[in-house]
Amino acid sequence: MSAQQPEEDVYTHGHHESVVRAHAARTAENSAAFVLPYLTPGSTLLDVGCGPGTITCDFAALVSPGHVTGLDRSPDVIAQAQALAVEREVRNVEFVAGNIYDLDFPDETFDVVHAHQVLQHLTDPVEALREMRRVAKPGGIVAVRDADFHGMSWYPEIPELDEWMDLYQRIARRNGAEPDAGRRLVSWAQSAGFTDVAPTSSNWLYATAQQRRWQARVWGERVLHSAFAEQALEYGFANAADLARISAGWHRWGSTDDGWFLIPNGEVIARA
Ligand SMILES: C[S@@+](CC[C@H](N)C(=O)[O-])C[C@H]1O[C@@H](n2cnc3c(N)ncnc32)[C@H](O)[C@@H]1O
Repeated sequence: MSAQQPEEDVYTHGHHESVVRAHAARTAENSAAFVLPYLTPGSTLLDVGCGPGTITCDFAALVSPGHVTGLDRSPDVIAQAQALAVEREVRNVEFVAGNIYDLDFPDETFDVVHAHQVLQHLTDPVEALREMRRVAKPGGIVAVRDADFHGMSWYPEIPELDEWMDLYQRIARRNGAEPDAGRRLVSWAQSAGFTDVAPTSSNWLYATAQQRRWQARVWGERVLHSAFAEQALEYGFANAADLARISAGWHRWGSTDDGWFLIPNGEVIARA
């Protein structure tokens, strides 16, 4: 870890129930398919910024009897991940609080070091990748996946969703983070010293009635109640009426019969 670490990065989403519920819908299959070919029984894996741990527990099942460690800066979300492991009776996983910039593991510990939707929230993603590389075994992999906010597209055109995008970009950048992370992953991996970098991309799509309802409800709530709302107000980027209007716009989009929302994700497998 270098001398000036951004220990106090502000996490744009926060851990409101509406946020963690959305993250808990993720699985290894729907969010980390690009990693699956690299998982073998007996592999050791570190999942950095694991959130509520649904992807982490899936990994544990796939590498069993190998050991999986989930790490997150938030002790609250770590407690939720621990409860999930107990509920699912996954025994080869542990969850610990920690910081991606200062991983409390010796050099060359893990076969796979993974971070899903984490780098976009950091003020120094390159330093985070260097630290992930440090704890990966030689010949092991560092695997990262991040959305690209300006790459998102939707239909129909709802002005409040344009407002939402503009507000999200302003808040994330005010926090020193990079919301258009997906397109930068190759560059960040190269800057972190990786020479063997394999890029891919994959989408999340919300275009069935059920998917639209889910996505509209998630963001309709987050805009009003999560850290996104608190930061929008605190930074003076929006007022309560603006947030109410944007939330209503999400619900209007969710009640369309033909709505579409596409989230592109950049992915990188980097050899340690
Ligand atoms: C968008 S969530 C992703 C959670 C999980 N990987 C998933 O995809 O469901 C980002 C997570 O990174 C964590 N995080 C943010 N900054 C971190 C840091 N410096 N060190 C470790 N975790 C961090 C947050 O607490 C949050 O749980």
